[in-house]
Amino acid sequence: MAVSASILKRIESLRAQLREHDYRYYVLAQPTISDQEYDRLMRELLDLEEAHPATISPDSPSQRVGGQPTKEFQTITHAAPMLSLSNTYNEDEVRDFDRRVRSVLGQEQFRYVSELKFDGVAVSLLFKDGLFVRGATRGDGTQGDDITQNLRTVRSIPLRVMGKKKGLEEFEVRGEIYMRREDFRRMNTDREHAGEKLFINPRNSAAGTLKLQDPKIVSGRPLNFVAYYLRSSARGLVGHYENLKILRDLGFPVSEHSKVCKNVESVIEYWKNWENRRDSLPYDIDGVVVKVDSLAQQTQLGMIAKSPRWAIAFKFAARQETTILREIKLQVGRIGTITPVAELDPVFVGGSTVSRATLHNEDYIKELDIRPGDTVVVEKGGDVIPKVSSVVKEKRPSGTRPFTMPNKCPECGSRISRPEEEANSYCENSECPAQIRARIEHFAHRGAMDIEGLGEAVVDQLVSQGFVHNYADLYELHKRKSELVNLERWGEKSVDNLLAAIEASKRRPFNRVLFALGIRHVGASVAQLLVNHFRTMDALMSASHDDLQTVQGVGPQIADSVQRFLEDRHNSKIVDKLRKAGLRFEEKLPRVVKQSPFSGKTVVLTGTLTAFGREEAKQKIEELGGHVSSSVSGKTDVVVVGADAGSKLEKAKKLGVRIVDEDEFSRLIRSSGSR
Ligand code: IVH
Repeated sequence: MAVSASILKRIESLRAQLREHDYRYYVLAQPTISDQEYDRLMRELLDLEEAHPATISPDSPSQRVGGQPTKEFQTITHAAPMLSLSNTYNEDEVRDFDRRVRSVLGQEQFRYVSELKFDGVAVSLLFKDGLFVRGATRGDGTQGDDITQNLRTVRSIPLRVMGKKKGLEEFEVRGEIYMRREDFRRMNTDREHAGEKLFINPRNSAAGTLKLQDPKIVSGRPLNFVAYYLRSSARGLVGHYENLKILRDLGFPVSEHSKVCKNVESVIEYWKNWENRRDSLPYDIDGVVVKVDSLAQQTQLGMIAKSPRWAIAFKFAARQETTILREIKLQVGRIGTITPVAELDPVFVGGSTVSRATLHNEDYIKELDIRPGDTVVVEKGGDVIPKVSSVVKEKRPSGTRPFTMPNKCPECGSRISRPEEEANSYCENSECPAQIRARIEHFAHRGAMDIEGLGEAVVDQLVSQGFVHNYADLYELHKRKSELVNLERWGEKSVDNLLAAIEASKRRPFNRVLFALGIRHVGASVAQLLVNHFRTMDALMSASHDDLQTVQGVGPQIADSVQRFLEDRHNSKIVDKLRKAGLRFEEKLPRVVKQSPFSGKTVVLTGTLTAFGREEAKQKIEELGGHVSSSVSGKTDVVVVGADAGSKLEKAKKLGVRIVDEDEFSRLIRSSGSR
């Protein structure tokens, strides 16, 4: 049956609109219509295509998930080998690279382009007459797998390019498939709930997904693409940086962070800057890539072995290494929480040597089946606490045994119990010396009472020698100065210093004192919320469960815990002693009740703010009567957006939440009279 011209026109118009909206959503991250409107357009197109199957073309936005599951991928041969880059790890090595470049180019002028090195999977995309015709993995560099059907499901890869560029009838785009950290986490949480196997990190997860034989499953995974290389025989292409611009104009996602660098010093500066800022990006990078810009000079430089001489990877210190786990020890926390800790053969990861790493809890160890003697992968995340993220099972020696949680506390021999529905196990003895030490260490640490010189070793000594039994005893230590001076490793001077530091801690504000008490679930920010609201310890102690919950950010769990702590006779005695010692149990400053644009508002911060640190911005908002939350939801009033904002910004747009950029944020703060 012939299709009428008007229907054809409508179909073409729907396709064009959907393409445009895909581009706005997936490439620019600036959608202009709601999901429902998008779905309506797609539905209409699907209906028309079903009624007129002859009109269906492979580049229709409805045809992303067309292919049937395959048994194995076809092998393809790359038209030009996909080279890998040689790696450098420090400034000297990069200067060597620069010297080699200059020795070939002689006196010629040249410039570099510095880019982020995306930690994903390299792919090659072929385009003919504006259409995406084949996608492949790098493979061994010469031959790879044909994964076209999987790549078609990646929404940021255009099935048809935008506009036309002369001479570009046929070209190849290379780039990286990656997953954003937040998407990765969400996906893993879903998998956990569904009882499926977890992925280790975003890169493994992207790589694993591309290997799937069923494009339908691939289409449900949050894959992204970023283009970083254009290969074409078209005349008139002169430089890499301009090629990136051409790719952007054709509708490909291209990083905004690529930068022209005049010399190696500015390359090094770029590298340092991103090493510091990498955690502010929504995806993982493992270094930067430096390329000579001019294509003619690239040809002149040529290649050595399997790498070009015109480009180099300048990596960040690794954050993942393998080493041997010797032993699993148990650490007892201040409320008795037992944390299993891995004792490792020391290994250099992410700029420092690691010899211990957390194993979280019993379930985590069982899930990964971690055993003493195993070779394990140690990872240092953005939060710097090293963790064991997987086991290299192939390297497991014979005779290892699976881990079982002991039933006695290694420190005091009391029973260890694990409450139902909890992942943690606890030592039941609140007088356990390990718990006592942990409570005192927490009390003295920098974010709490900040008592200089009162670290792990000193606390251990004071507790084991019977000088202190709880943190209130610290304030009576001065009475026993002559005994202290005679302790091993101590003298007049060091004792004086310690006593002075303890004395100085009496001046810490109430919120720090409240945090230092070590009430379960009361971290530094909850302590601040409670102090803002109740002002004095007496008011806090007489607050009912409901009173406590009227504080924004305090739920039943925190309320329970605060009440249980304060009602305990032993604890109230200690609090009394602290009061008598002169610690602050009230906040004298008048409450901020002034009206401001943030009064009573729930605010979410996202992206990198240049003029403020995260903490500082948060403090300002709270000073002005606002509440800062970490995720965007229907309850969010304002989202403050810094550079490189990711999915939170998208969500805010979807929900129609008010969006404020950094300039406006600064103005609002200034107009509210905050410094
Ligand atoms: S350029 C000849 N640019 O790093 C140029 N590669 O060993 C080849 N990569 O396999 C690559 N970000 O997977 C280039 N901005 C970037 C990159 C990048 C990540 C990966 C890519 C490649 C490996 C180099």
